[in-house]
Amino acid sequence: MSITRRDLLRNIGIAGGTGVMFSSMGALGLNPAALAAQTPPFTPLDKNALRGHGKRSVVVMGGGIAGMTTAYELLKGGYDVTVLEGRDRPGGRNWTVRGGDRYTDLDGNRQRAAFSKGEYMNTGPGRIPQMHVTLDYCKELGVDLEVFNNQNADAFLYREGDHGLDGEAVRHRAAKADVYGYTSELLAKATDQGALDAYVTDSDKEQLIAFLRGFGDLGDKVDGDPAASFAYTGTSRRGYEVQPGAGRESGVETTPYALSDVLASGVGRYFSFEFGFDQAMVMLQPVGGMDRIAYALADAIGRRHFRYGTEVVAYRNTADGVEVSYRQGGATRTITADFAVNTIPPHLAAEIPSNLPSEVIAALRSAQVSNAGKLGIEYDRRWWEEDYRIYGGISNADTDLSNIWHPSYGYHGDKGVMIGYYNTGGDADSYGALTPDRRLQRAVAQGRKIFGDVYTQGITASFSQNWARAPFSEGAWVHWRDQNGADYERLLEPTGNIHFAGDHLSHAIAWQHGAMVSARAVVARIQERVAAS
Ligand code: FAD
Ligand code: ALA
Repeated sequence: MSITRRDLLRNIGIAGGTGVMFSSMGALGLNPAALAAQTPPFTPLDKNALRGHGKRSVVVMGGGIAGMTTAYELLKGGYDVTVLEGRDRPGGRNWTVRGGDRYTDLDGNRQRAAFSKGEYMNTGPGRIPQMHVTLDYCKELGVDLEVFNNQNADAFLYREGDHGLDGEAVRHRAAKADVYGYTSELLAKATDQGALDAYVTDSDKEQLIAFLRGFGDLGDKVDGDPAASFAYTGTSRRGYEVQPGAGRESGVETTPYALSDVLASGVGRYFSFEFGFDQAMVMLQPVGGMDRIAYALADAIGRRHFRYGTEVVAYRNTADGVEVSYRQGGATRTITADFAVNTIPPHLAAEIPSNLPSEVIAALRSAQVSNAGKLGIEYDRRWWEEDYRIYGGISNADTDLSNIWHPSYGYHGDKGVMIGYYNTGGDADSYGALTPDRRLQRAVAQGRKIFGDVYTQGITASFSQNWARAPFSEGAWVHWRDQNGADYERLLEPTGNIHFAGDHLSHAIAWQHGAMVSARAVVARIQERVAAS
């Protein structure tokens, strides 16, 4: 299966999907064994892995999640490992920004994050599905987890335009109740009136209508009046204008939007997001920021195996191993080893001088790079909780903001950091082209349409990332035109003693899981080669 950009956008809920998106047929397996089968099996090396084979050395190019997983697993087997990392921190795209962090992008935009103590922004990964091996590493390395709210019935949906509920911020629960309600009503009517008789038996019809009545919260069948049958007339699922209370306070329900307004707005397209195999609740996050994983891996690997601030400037296969040259503080040095594992993003790895055959360089170059942007805004009060009773989750807009994340930590605290936008493609590029101050101004003007004036008030700090112009990344993630094609296949194979790893060499691109399982596959492959030597 090749992962297209559209698949990825759907996975992160940015493009409105029209159908249920399962990322693989395996996701349809409803028993635990089917899910477990999704993770490639891996047996960690034991300390005797090299017995009888002498000392073996590996230089790992890149200290992101793939590089660190490679190093961590090889060290278990007694390999001599050196990680060369261009940045001055571990994690690569796994980057959490806190108060005091400084950053200059490739356009020369300088930022110093001024977030308050305890506040942070995950500029890259922010959520982890339950089935990802990322969680196994969290367990093994002692990284504490908490729930990441990927879905919140009380978050807002905003659709720009001039028809029906467009231009109005709608609670997810209200939009969902109307979409499910009207769709169910139409299908129940059609079924009852015989429109589906060619496809269903009488018993199927009965069961389908019973399901739809519950699913849509529909009224009864009205004998002799098909138009009035199974009517959706609103439901408490939408929420209340006056909440149910004590004594005689039964509450005042909200009024549904008209059917054609709901359809015209396209609001229903958002709801398939949470059906995604890797976007369904429950999702998790490390307590304190996603980089807790990066630092836990770096700690487990140990400082003596890590060289930060080392930019790989050349690499080559030699007769009996590899040679990797790196620049550090103005000096260029060369390290030799038996093997290299290249985890540098493919579009960057292709441009570093090497003696790789031209078809391998062409394969690296064939990766299609996508952009993503994120903006963190710290407010001096958690107005989304206080004013709107939104505790975590995602508000979604069909404007250039796309996704607005309400923090899934620090509830009822004094302050909080919202992700003011998480967008991709053209929207990420157009925000990225602005200075950080202008990005904030534009995002706040857009967010005001959804949340009102409160969105513009009490901002104490902000930080934004444009991944296309991030040193050592120059993109958010890549995809392949054909993941069954020759280019992808070529990179799964080592070229001499150089192996390749990274999320781009997995079927979980843009997930840390992909980086980890790709790294494990390379570790197993190197060990096989050593064992066979
Ligand atoms: P990288 O992290 O890119 O590692 C490559 C390393 O190579 C980097 O450390 C880099 O500094 C280094 N490097 C590059 N060039 C050189 C050089 N010349 N010399 C030395 N070092 C070099 N994943 C999730 O699990 N959950 C999410 O919610 C999620 N959301 C995401 C949102 C965004 C906006 C982005 C950008 C990513 C997201 N991901 C998410 C994906 C996740 O971040 C990646 O899949 C994973 O971090 C990739 O790890 P990697 O080691 O393959 O690549
Ligand atoms: N996997 C990434 C996300 O969920 C892209 O946002």
